[in-house]
Amino acid sequence: MPYYRVSGEIPRKRHTRFQRPGGGLYAEELMGEEGFSSDSSLLYHAHPPTAIVKSEGLADVAAQTQMTPNQPLLPRHYRTQDLRRGGDVVFGRQALLGNDNVTISFVTADAASDLYRNSTGDEVVYVHTGVLKFESVYGAINAVGGDYVVVPRGTIHRWIPAGAAGGSGGSSHRASIALDSVSADLAAEPVTALVIEARGHIRTPRRYLSQTGQFLEHAPYCERDLRGAEGPLLAEGEDVPVMVRNRAGLTRLTYAHHPFDVVGWDGCLYPYAFNIADFEPIVKRTHAPPPVHQTFEGPNFVVCSFCPRPLDFDPQSVPIPYNHHNVDSDEMMFYVGGDYSARKGSGVAIGSITLHPSGFTHGPIPGAVEAVIRGVEAGRTTTDETAVMIDTFRPLLLADLAVVAEDPEYAWSWARAARS
Ligand SMILES: [Fe+2]
Repeated sequence: MPYYRVSGEIPRKRHTRFQRPGGGLYAEELMGEEGFSSDSSLLYHAHPPTAIVKSEGLADVAAQTQMTPNQPLLPRHYRTQDLRRGGDVVFGRQALLGNDNVTISFVTADAASDLYRNSTGDEVVYVHTGVLKFESVYGAINAVGGDYVVVPRGTIHRWIPAGAAGGSGGSSHRASIALDSVSADLAAEPVTALVIEARGHIRTPRRYLSQTGQFLEHAPYCERDLRGAEGPLLAEGEDVPVMVRNRAGLTRLTYAHHPFDVVGWDGCLYPYAFNIADFEPIVKRTHAPPPVHQTFEGPNFVVCSFCPRPLDFDPQSVPIPYNHHNVDSDEMMFYVGGDYSARKGSGVAIGSITLHPSGFTHGPIPGAVEAVIRGVEAGRTTTDETAVMIDTFRPLLLADLAVVAEDPEYAWSWARAARS
């Protein structure tokens, strides 16, 4: 994260004595990226964050997911509705696509997760539907449909869907989510989410930021759109298990005290949420390419947000994408809302995920261009499509778990439409 936040109580100077009421000192902890050379935060714990009492190696089911090359080469369509449902946001996620840089998963969650620390990379959890609470050492975030929740590598956290009992870890409370701003109907929806796990950091595109990290005027979102974790979030407990994934595998570490004991923190590294509805779309007179929709960048991949916007407004414009061949990247699209003019007749609907790999030219279904031009001539001026796109610069492998949700007819949809 490029900018500074402070939450709770901190001492005036860093690395100075911070007295606890009743005697003793708070324990200072630096969470720092790239050694001591990039963003960091200082956290102040009631108990030493180093005190562990047990370590148990666990079988990592996620590591057993089989990933195979997209061979023979095909465009793919997965219906997320057909995937297994249930579980929690961490261990219920099902990998669909991945490579050495990123794993893309989907989850329909109905249970609170264990406390979890992913030390292999940053995560972005895109909440498609439902309401849930993200709790962490930095504090809590109430997340709703449309939120990207960015979780920096190493953050101890857990996810609690609205209505689910609190997870393990010494706290048995129910998620007390502030529902003032969301309807009961929304809270009753199942929690579904797309999960992006990077092997590295996920950041705001560099070109959106000033030299010192402020969002520039041309950026499609800015500081005011980001909701940082709010604390302090304090929990009591002893001998508290935390599931830790690092590059060696999965371990259950038991901490002497509950890790949610941070009375204050400050710095530029923390979890935050950004809602896709706060992305300000950039439009052109003729069709604008996906980089105008870029939201995040990760190691060898980008994340883009397609949002409701005015249609391209030149009288001669073709206001849907042209056929394109991304020679260097595989393109994954998650269709989350609205009406997809370019995909009518392909079987793609809300909840679909498509993969258009390098080596294959993709574009609108034949007939879609003429249909949208007829719409414009009849007075249509906007598109309400909403989608999350991930472009990877290394080929995406296909997870065995995704097979059950695949539409085998998708690859032939362009030819079918062209012949009809
Ligand atoms: Fe595309």
